[in-house]
Amino acid sequence: MCGIIGFTGARDCAELLIRGLEQLEYRGYDSAGIAVAGADGFAVCKAVGRIANLREKLGAALPAGHTGIGHTRWATHGRPSEENCHPHLDEKGRVAVVHNGIIENYLALKARLEEAGVRFSSETDTEVVAQLLGYYYTGDMKQTLLKVLPMLEGSFALGVLDANAPDALYCARRHSPLLVGLGRGEQYIASDAAALIEHTREMITLEDGDIGVLTAAGAAIYGPDGAPRARAPMHVSWDAGAARKNGYPHFMLKEICEQPQALRDTLAHYVDLERLEIRREQMPFDRQQALALKELTIAACGTAYHAGMMGRALLENIAGVRARAEIASEYRYGPVILPGGGPDSAVFLAVSQSGETADTLAALRRAKGLGMRAIAFSNVIGASIAREADTVMYTLAGPEIAVASTKAYLTQVLLFEILALDLAHLRGRITGEALKQRLAQLAALPGQAQAVLNRKEMVLNFAKRNRACRDVFFIGRLTDYTTSLEAALKLKEVSYLHSEAYAAGELKHGTIALIDEETLVAAIATQPEILQKTYANMQEVKARGAYLLLIGTPGANLPEDCEVWPVEGVHPTLAPLLATIYAQLLAYYTALMHGCDIDKPRNLAKSVTVE
Ligand code: M6R
Repeated sequence: MCGIIGFTGARDCAELLIRGLEQLEYRGYDSAGIAVAGADGFAVCKAVGRIANLREKLGAALPAGHTGIGHTRWATHGRPSEENCHPHLDEKGRVAVVHNGIIENYLALKARLEEAGVRFSSETDTEVVAQLLGYYYTGDMKQTLLKVLPMLEGSFALGVLDANAPDALYCARRHSPLLVGLGRGEQYIASDAAALIEHTREMITLEDGDIGVLTAAGAAIYGPDGAPRARAPMHVSWDAGAARKNGYPHFMLKEICEQPQALRDTLAHYVDLERLEIRREQMPFDRQQALALKELTIAACGTAYHAGMMGRALLENIAGVRARAEIASEYRYGPVILPGGGPDSAVFLAVSQSGETADTLAALRRAKGLGMRAIAFSNVIGASIAREADTVMYTLAGPEIAVASTKAYLTQVLLFEILALDLAHLRGRITGEALKQRLAQLAALPGQAQAVLNRKEMVLNFAKRNRACRDVFFIGRLTDYTTSLEAALKLKEVSYLHSEAYAAGELKHGTIALIDEETLVAAIATQPEILQKTYANMQEVKARGAYLLLIGTPGANLPEDCEVWPVEGVHPTLAPLLATIYAQLLAYYTALMHGCDIDKPRNLAKSVTVE
C-alpha cells in the first residue's frame, strides 16, 4: 500500500527511482510519480495506472538530477488522478513531498493555510505537508521539519526535497515504516527492502520521531528534539533473485512452489533436525512461563488471521492451552477480559507477514497497554510489529511479493505447530519421546508439500474444465473449516469468482438454498474422526445438484462422481497444510483461466498500512 523510494548520490537518479517503484509495485497502487531536483527546481512527472504509463510519459529523455523521490499511491484521500498523485509540491515549487500514512488533521491544517492565502491543487492529505513545509520554510529543511512535524496528527513516512538544497534528501517517520539504505557515496530511502536490495543490504529502520538528512557523504539521523540519534544499520540477507520471478510467469506461482523450501528453512531455524530437538533459545516460553500460561490471544488480519485460527486449534489440541483467535480490527476496539493471574498468565500473539498491517499493530499496542506480554510472528525483519513486540519469532519464507499470501501462511501455521509442541512438552502433556516423533513428522512435511506441487497439472486441468463455474462453496469441519476459509479467500481474491466458506454442518441452515447445478462444492476433509460427517454433508449438496471436489482423504461412503485431490499419509495436524496448497493452486489456475492480474488483484494492497 503506497510505496516510497528516494535517492541522493553522484549519478542521475530518474531511472533508479522508476526501477525502485517497479520493485514496490506488489504493494498495490493506482498511480505513480517522481520528482528529481535539478539546477532550476524540480522535474516532476506523474501518471495514473501502472508504472509503465509513467515510463511512457517520461519518454526516452529522463530528467537529469542526482537527488529525487518517487511514489506509488493507493488512493485514500481523493480519487486516483494526476493532481492527487505524489510527489506534491508547495505552491511556490520550493518543496516536494512523498508520503505514506494518513494526516488525520489535514482538513483543519488546510483551512488554516487557505485562510493565510495558500492555494491547494489536490484533494489529498499529503499536500498539506508540502504546503506547511513551504509556508514555514526557514531556509533550512531540517529546522523546518522540526517545526512542522509536531503540527501533524496521524501517521507518516515522508521523503522530502528542498529546491534550495538539491544535494540533500530528507525523510521522517511516525507510525509508518521507512528504511534508509546506506551505499558507497549514495544513500536511499524506501518503504521496504525489496526496492533497495539491488543497491545495498545495509539499512537503518527509522524509529518513530526520527528525521533523516541524507547526502552523498552519509546519513545523519536526528530525534524530534533535533539532537543526533545513533541508529545501527541491519544487514538484509535476502537473495536479490528471491525478489524476482526467476522464470515463473507470476510471483504467486513462484511463491506457491517455494513452499517446500520455506517450510524447510523455517523448520531448521527452530528445530535441530538431526537431534530432533526444539532449539530452546528460539522459543518464547520457558517451563515456568509455560506452566503459568492461562490464555493466549492471537490477533491478525486476512490470511494471517486464518493462520491464527489454525494456531488456536493447534494450541488447544496439542498443548491444552486455552487460545482465542481475533480479527485484529475487531480486537482493537472490542472488550477484553483478562483471565487474571500473574504477568505470564495472559499472552498476546500478533501474526503478520509484512509486520506492518495497521490493525494488527494497533491490536498489539492495545494488548501491551493492557499489560500483556506481546509475541509476534513476522516474515519481515525489523518490521514495526516485530520491533514493538516483546518477543519475535520470524517465519523464514523469504520475500513474499504477490498480494495473495501463500508461503507466509504455511510457515505461520508451521510456527504454531512448533510452538504448540514445545508448550505441550513444557507443560508435561507429551513425553520427550513423543515430541521427537512429532518433530520427525514435521521434518517430512517439505517433501509431502513437494508431492502435492508435483500434481499441479491435475489442478490446472480441473481449472480449465471448470472455467465457466459461477459460484464455489468450500465446506469443512474444525480445522478443515479454517482451511475452507483460506481457500475461499484465496480464490475470490485472485480470480474474482464468488466463493464462500461454510462449516460443513451449517450449510443446511440456510445457505443450501443457493446450491444448484452451476455450483461447485469443494469439501475439505482431512481429519479422520470427522470424515464421515463431512462426506454426509457432501451427499446433501450432491442431492441438490452441486458438483463435487474432495480435497482430502478418500474413503468409504464418499459420494460417487467426485473429483479427488488426495491428502494421505500425513499426521492430521499437518494435513490442512497440504490441502491448502491444492487450494492455492486452484485459485492461481482459475485466475489464470479468467485472465486476471494475478499478482496485483484489483482494489488490493500487499501491505495494508491504513485502518
Ligand atoms: O502482512 P499481513 O500478514 O499482516 O497481512 C494481512 C492481510 O492483509 C493479508 O493476509 C491478506 O489477507 C492477503 N492478501 C491474503 O492473501
